[in-house]
Amino acid sequence: MCGIVGYTGPRDAGPVLLDGLRRLEYRGYDSAGIALVTESGDLFVEKRAGKVAVLQDAMGDHPPRAGIGLGHTRWATHGRPSDLNAHPHSDCTGRITVVHNGIVENFRELRDELKAGGHTLQSETDTEVVAHLVEDAYAGDLADAVRVALARLEGAYALVVLHRDEPERLVGARLNAPLIVGIGAGESFLASDAAAIVAYTKQVIFLADGDVADVTPGGAVITDLSGAVVERKIDIIPWSVEAAEKGGYEHFMLKEIHEQPAALTSAMTGRLRHDSVCLEELDPIRDRLTGIDRVELIACGTAYYASLVGAALFQEWLGVPARSTVASEFRYSPPPINARTLVVAVTQSGETADTIAASRLAGDRGALVISVTNTVGSAITRESHAAVFLQAGPEVAVAATKTFVTQVATLVMLAADVAHHLGRLPAAKEQELVAALRRLPEQAERAIELAATTEEMADRYAEAAGFMYIGRSFGYPAALEGALKIKEISYLHAEGYAAGELKHGPISLLDADVPLVAVATRSAVYEKLISNLMEGKARDARVLAVATEGDTQIEQLATDVLWVPDTLEPLSTILAVIPLQLFAYHVAVKRGRDVDQPRNLAKSVTVE
Ligand code: M6R
Repeated sequence: MCGIVGYTGPRDAGPVLLDGLRRLEYRGYDSAGIALVTESGDLFVEKRAGKVAVLQDAMGDHPPRAGIGLGHTRWATHGRPSDLNAHPHSDCTGRITVVHNGIVENFRELRDELKAGGHTLQSETDTEVVAHLVEDAYAGDLADAVRVALARLEGAYALVVLHRDEPERLVGARLNAPLIVGIGAGESFLASDAAAIVAYTKQVIFLADGDVADVTPGGAVITDLSGAVVERKIDIIPWSVEAAEKGGYEHFMLKEIHEQPAALTSAMTGRLRHDSVCLEELDPIRDRLTGIDRVELIACGTAYYASLVGAALFQEWLGVPARSTVASEFRYSPPPINARTLVVAVTQSGETADTIAASRLAGDRGALVISVTNTVGSAITRESHAAVFLQAGPEVAVAATKTFVTQVATLVMLAADVAHHLGRLPAAKEQELVAALRRLPEQAERAIELAATTEEMADRYAEAAGFMYIGRSFGYPAALEGALKIKEISYLHAEGYAAGELKHGPISLLDADVPLVAVATRSAVYEKLISNLMEGKARDARVLAVATEGDTQIEQLATDVLWVPDTLEPLSTILAVIPLQLFAYHVAVKRGRDVDQPRNLAKSVTVE
């Protein structure tokens, strides 16, 4: 939920850290801070409530030159956003400073103990205890002291620690929160993710839980908590810094919406073979897949909506019960799980705490776990027997767009692959599916073009009192996701509902100020959906329909229509959501919202 970056090397650390913080800001943006060891050996700390830009203003045009430092951008958990609670946090001597992502669950007990031992703690945060624990343990070697301090912590952490008197050394550690080491030429980095450092190096080490990284300009030594050296391989980041920049678009969200055709192409690359689907990542677990008698999908937020499509297809194509559950419910009320249960964990970031915990629980109970994620090296890949990557490239806007459509496409391919290998997907059906998948990127491009009308429409809908989104079958996840987009970036209330449920309660919300947004693309349930649409129209609601090109009936019924190309029903979710993303984007812009960094949110939710 927070962004961390550290640097040691010959460059001027301040600008490197500020650049890294700007790129990590999507992880949290209620306060930011930086610590540098200046050329004269002093510890310089500046931290401010607000965004990185506020911190930058506070630092002025000439921050002190330094060869080492660390920075943090925060999404508050313990202690409200304020200058005082912003990271870094320091010890009593002012020599040791710490940035942290995660939650120290036993911090109250540790605070009491530290205060009783004579320490003065300044902030309301859980993190500050770490600086004081390191202070107590320090006897001339920072990595040793950090390992001693870590042994006292319960909870989750990615930490970077700096000691003023060891001015080339950073110590990083992770447990259930991401941290990577960047290896450059005579310089090294620590960061929450590659976006912060890819402008400087593409060589990274994905730290594992329990790792402690002793980082100097010459490289990194990784140990476990006991100090024993562990070997970690160096990975190469497959994308460049341009992929994490706006590229001329006003917002990352708009850029990422426009990247969807290319992201879909990339998600399918190497996975469509003539007339069949094949995910090589499943090869090592094919033996276990043969015995599967139930499928449980787990995910949060947008990923959960994508997983509804996967559940429907596993059930239809495999002929076994399949369902999707939000991970935060699954983990506390799990279904019966055994070795014949396939669990599919869907998470863009690969670090959502609830999804990881639910996957771990399922794995511990013997399930076969497959993760579907966008993030190579992320925690979820260690909780699963096989990882299938979205290959969508970095997504920076907090509101998910290209990762939703690639999650749906990847789940469609996953269900098709498993059904194919179990001999349950008829060849003709698979052939038809592969042909439709191949058309998808071009159709997504057309859906974007057709949705140009959303900008003008937003003028007429931006002052609505709220919205009701409805859909059935594969239109239902699109309705849920469309409503979530409106909520999170425009701050307007929107309900996403199964269309058949409208008359069981929420229809009372409809009137001239609450439009009905109906996903009414061509499907087996089209006529049923039209009946629901008419129910809304009869209550004076304006009706905004998402419909298939060529549907002449809908034009007579709806106030406005957003057109999408025709495709197979399981893929219709992908095309239907595109105009809804653009509609939400333009409504949010009209309402003057912070589209890429909406209030109260962070992109990665690493707390429960
Ligand atoms: O990284 P994940 O896919 O696990 O994230 C899950 C949700 O937090 C996420 O999908 C969230 O709902 C979206 N950012 C909303 O646009």
